[in-house]
Amino acid sequence: MKIAIVGTGYVGLVQGTCLAESGNDVVCVDKVAAKIEDLAQGRVPIYEPGLGELVHRNLRDGRLAFTTNLAAGIAEAEIIFIAVGTPQGEQGGADLSGVWEVGRQIAANLTSSKIIVVKSTVPVGTNAELARQMAEATRVPFDVASNPEFLKEGAAIDDFNKPDRVVVGVRRPEVGERLHALYAPFLRTDRPFLVMTPESAEMTKYVANCLLATKISFINEMANLCESYGADVNDVRRGIGHDQRIGFHFLFPGVGYGGSCFPKDIRAVVHMAQSKGLPARMMEAVDVVNEAQKTVLFRKINQHFGSEIKGMTIAIWGLAFKPRTDDIREAPALVLINSLLSAGAEIRVHDPEALAHVRSLYGNRLAYCDRPYGALEQADALVVVTEWNEFRNPDFEVMRRLMRQPVVFDGRNVYDPARMAALGFTYHGIGRAGTVPG
Ligand SMILES: NC(=O)c1ccc[n+]([C@@H]2O[C@H](COP(=O)([O-])OP(=O)(O)OC[C@H]3O[C@@H](n4cnc5c(N)ncnc54)[C@H](O)[C@@H]3O)[C@@H](O)[C@H]2O)c1
Repeated sequence: MKIAIVGTGYVGLVQGTCLAESGNDVVCVDKVAAKIEDLAQGRVPIYEPGLGELVHRNLRDGRLAFTTNLAAGIAEAEIIFIAVGTPQGEQGGADLSGVWEVGRQIAANLTSSKIIVVKSTVPVGTNAELARQMAEATRVPFDVASNPEFLKEGAAIDDFNKPDRVVVGVRRPEVGERLHALYAPFLRTDRPFLVMTPESAEMTKYVANCLLATKISFINEMANLCESYGADVNDVRRGIGHDQRIGFHFLFPGVGYGGSCFPKDIRAVVHMAQSKGLPARMMEAVDVVNEAQKTVLFRKINQHFGSEIKGMTIAIWGLAFKPRTDDIREAPALVLINSLLSAGAEIRVHDPEALAHVRSLYGNRLAYCDRPYGALEQADALVVVTEWNEFRNPDFEVMRRLMRQPVVFDGRNVYDPARMAALGFTYHGIGRAGTVPG
């Protein structure tokens, strides 16, 4: 099929590339010229495992193209995906200006009937409103459909190729059938293709993110309780997870969720509820718990060192909001960095992929280290914020030699407290017995 994707970011680029890889002709459109120039040369502006190779192959084979010219990009397309950002707006709800703008541009350039698919995460009613606005601007018939995206950054290619499910929201069954044909190559292992109304599809995305974020805030609150009563949340987690009604997924305590989705989506749902005069007590609490959890490491550092942080050297491993991505949007590491800078600490940071983004925010206020051990030189403490695999089994002897003080704050519970103690480290985890409560 001939496909256009408008908005070539984390979602749009993965979508476009994977659809090209399955034999479709895809044009990716973006308004940022530098990004399109890079992509057209095969330079992928984001880090997503496996993506670079797929972009190169499909560019070379002529199935994937990049342009800033929306009119030309959509001219041949049967299906146009909208994958622009929908960031948090001033009132807390989603800022839909990108979606409306693209809708206007598509309508102005529509020459034949097409399916316009909203992939961006949007509040319930957006598909209907987009269809209304576009119908006012063009006489060419079109369909608007919802197709929320569930991929996880860091595993996006796998998630796209082997989705747990594909959800589409359509007004006409024929549109669902066209989209089913497009996704059929990815659903060979009996993965469900779920057809519903656009309203239900829009809602499905938010409900999924609300539940996932709730699990994180829930286990973080329980972890803090465990810690202050001398219980170990890791044991408790195993104790509950074997109950099949509960399970193990997404119940790892840490430093709070970040990223470009959960924070804004949870607030968008609160805003959606408020717009209908409904309470959203749980989602408000999930957000409040999460904001507090982002400060847990700084509180632990303060508690350990007292008021002596000024002039101390703190090493941070892991800056991206999660492993296997370079994305630092709403990353908990940034909250910690800001607090440490205000307290007068010297900060040495390492991340396998996110250093350039962090450097563009903080300039020469931090020391950037290409290697994990480089960050430890003369450090008074190491703080692990994001659990990249390469941090899981470091050479602790080397670490001790490099550090001024052998103190580790483990924001993701990647190390074993007893082993750390045996190795001579003072260890602080999250919600674990024997660690100093936050
Ligand atoms: N990132 C994720 O993991 C993820 C997962 C599921 C859903 N989503 C949703 O998908 C949407 C996109 O997210 P993202 O992370 O890919 O965002 P992003 O910021 O990485 O990409 C959005 C892209 O759209 C482009 N754009 C904006 N306005 C445009 C316009 N008028 N014309 C052409 N291009 C335009 C931007 O330049 C940018 O490249 C959001 O609604 C997000 O909530 C994201």
